[in-house]
Amino acid sequence: MAHRELLARHRSVMPNWLALYYEQPIEIASAHGRRVTDREGRTYLDFFAGILTNAIGYDVAEISDAIRSQLDTGVLHSSTLYLIKSQVELAEKIAELSGIPDAKVFFTNSGTEANETALMLATQYRRSEQVLALRNSYHGRAFATVAITGIRGWSASALSPIKVSWVHGGYRYRSPFRELSDADYIKACVADLREVIETTTAGDVACMIVEPIQGVGGFTTPPDGLFGEFKKVLDEYGILLVSDEVQTGWGRTGEHFWGIQAHDVVPDAITFAKGLGNGLAIGGVVARANLTDCLRANSISTFGGNPLATTGALAALNYLLEHDLQANAGRLGSRLLDGLRAVAAAQPVVGDVRGKGLMIALELVGPDGEPNPAAAVALLEETRDRGLLVGKGGLYGNVIRLAPPMTLTQAEAEEALEILAQSIEAVAKEVQQR
Ligand SMILES: Cc1ncc(COP(=O)(O)O)c(C=O)c1O
Repeated sequence: MAHRELLARHRSVMPNWLALYYEQPIEIASAHGRRVTDREGRTYLDFFAGILTNAIGYDVAEISDAIRSQLDTGVLHSSTLYLIKSQVELAEKIAELSGIPDAKVFFTNSGTEANETALMLATQYRRSEQVLALRNSYHGRAFATVAITGIRGWSASALSPIKVSWVHGGYRYRSPFRELSDADYIKACVADLREVIETTTAGDVACMIVEPIQGVGGFTTPPDGLFGEFKKVLDEYGILLVSDEVQTGWGRTGEHFWGIQAHDVVPDAITFAKGLGNGLAIGGVVARANLTDCLRANSISTFGGNPLATTGALAALNYLLEHDLQANAGRLGSRLLDGLRAVAAAQPVVGDVRGKGLMIALELVGPDGEPNPAAAVALLEETRDRGLLVGKGGLYGNVIRLAPPMTLTQAEAEEALEILAQSIEAVAKEVQQR
């Protein structure tokens, strides 16, 4: 079997901490639309899309053609020492879409670098190394971004250039305030924010960074308006708000283009990556010009915003806007949420169904509501056996994440729902027999 031989080679040469999905990991050899085919010839409906990165799907002619036309010029890279038309065009588009007045854009190669840049800007602008972050967050893998990552399982190092204070609010399902109404939950989190600022900081904090829906944290979905209320407190202290839209951007939440828009607030900076390039390595920060321009030294990303990535990303962004994929995400997301809630109502192993648009999570629990990571592993295998790829996440590894390409069709949504219903039933039976 092809995967066995590759798995043995992978294990001997790749780091142990680079986790693979499935008891028998797969290699995706080809793909089209929302379907991927593994090296052994088995085809799956893809509901994780390279961790929300293949936002439009696979083998999209408009995007492939744009990339090919850039290849044909012979220029894969020129560096930011020279003008790059596709980079400028993409920056203009993102600046406009951001809703941030007088915005400028800096391109990176990943979400980690995007957040490192936002932290660099905010800490320099405010001349402060203090940062507020949400518990259960994930912001990347470098020293500052690991520091603002509030999930033990993703915090490989405690070494950090910044001082972080932790705020409640993202992960409502296991929050001490979970029993409260939306309005009271927001009040309690705002009071916590104020107390955290007053008790754990010197007041002159650089910024607060939030994921509007926590991705790795298990698509946790706080009540709309929470971050708008946070901003009112932050403004009292002059603290900047950074919205990490690496997973929630580009219309994935269905109702808005950026996840933070559900909170009726314009942040000082937005960080992005993943879906923008539909698989090409690109990320960045869009922020007010006076914030972006505050650095007093040169700063460069050699590959950031290179001609290939920005040409492909422009084609992807145009495709997304022209086909109104945000509306599609909203429509099919609602269908999936309704369908899954109906399934979950009869299956106590599913403690929570949550999310927005095409960012949907199932939190799996034991008899007393405790996290059930074994059930999540089982559901991953059951869905794969039936031809559906899904993701896993959550503080306790007990959350299944569904995030298909935003070009998903109604028929594919129904197919996935059917597979999920059967798979959840199979897992529920396994749990009973244990
Ligand atoms: C919300 C969020 N921010 C930042 C990152 C880091 O992005 P990257 O893996 O491209 O460095 C991720 C990656 O999963 C993410 O989900």
